[in-house]
Amino acid sequence: MIYAQILAGGKGTRMGNVPMPKQFLALADKPILIHTIEKFCLEPRFDAILVVCPADWLSHTQDLITKYVTDSRVKVVAGGSERNATLMKGIRYLQETFGRHADDVVVTHDAVRPFVTQRIISENIDAVLQHPAVDTVVPAIDTIVQGEADAISAIPVRSSMYQGQTPQSFNVKALVDAYATLTDEQKASLSDSCKICLLAGQPVTMVRGENLNFKITTPYDLRVASALIEKRA
Ligand code: CTP
Repeated sequence: MIYAQILAGGKGTRMGNVPMPKQFLALADKPILIHTIEKFCLEPRFDAILVVCPADWLSHTQDLITKYVTDSRVKVVAGGSERNATLMKGIRYLQETFGRHADDVVVTHDAVRPFVTQRIISENIDAVLQHPAVDTVVPAIDTIVQGEADAISAIPVRSSMYQGQTPQSFNVKALVDAYATLTDEQKASLSDSCKICLLAGQPVTMVRGENLNFKITTPYDLRVASALIEKRA
């Protein structure tokens, strides 16, 4: 089976004082989350498209999907308190609903990256059918500086630095096995799902992202996203 999992379980605290988690905020004529779901519905290879949302926003999310989405592959389930807990809850739902098969793969994506392209989604599927884990990246534009407190500890060579985006795609069994090897502390602290695989010694393949595939995190990002959508309309 080829699954999509849209991670929409966050609170969006860096968006500031807004009445709902940022994935539900409007971008032009519909919520950010709906723009993202629509991109995934355009890919015919998905057997199911799972949206994982905050538990107390479950009925709101279901209502939005009923209103905007006609694709019967789209399902909704409640997520967890951290991003990787949300990811694993979604995977548990998929395995309980559709069974477990050694070749199952999942393409996971941040709900708040609505400008993901068909090319990126398609290349993620192609790559994860060949490799256990896949990350979407863009080459770093600024020099990346590592530091602690007020001091720089390293300046890595820019040409081998990338910025991680999503989708991140996984062979489901390899991901579940890798997650099981982590300590509770590692599970709580990891903000990146590909790092689960790296820590377990699995290789992670890279797919080229796009600068447009940015994550809407702050009010500034939302203004940029709104301007981009209006320009396209
Ligand atoms: N996410 C999730 N479950 C969580 C936390 C995050 O599904 N427990 C999702 C978010 O909904 C988002 C993506 O992961 O689509 C990236 O999260 P990010 O924007 O970094 O975090 P948020 O918690 O949404 O925002 P903030 O860090 O500003 O609170």
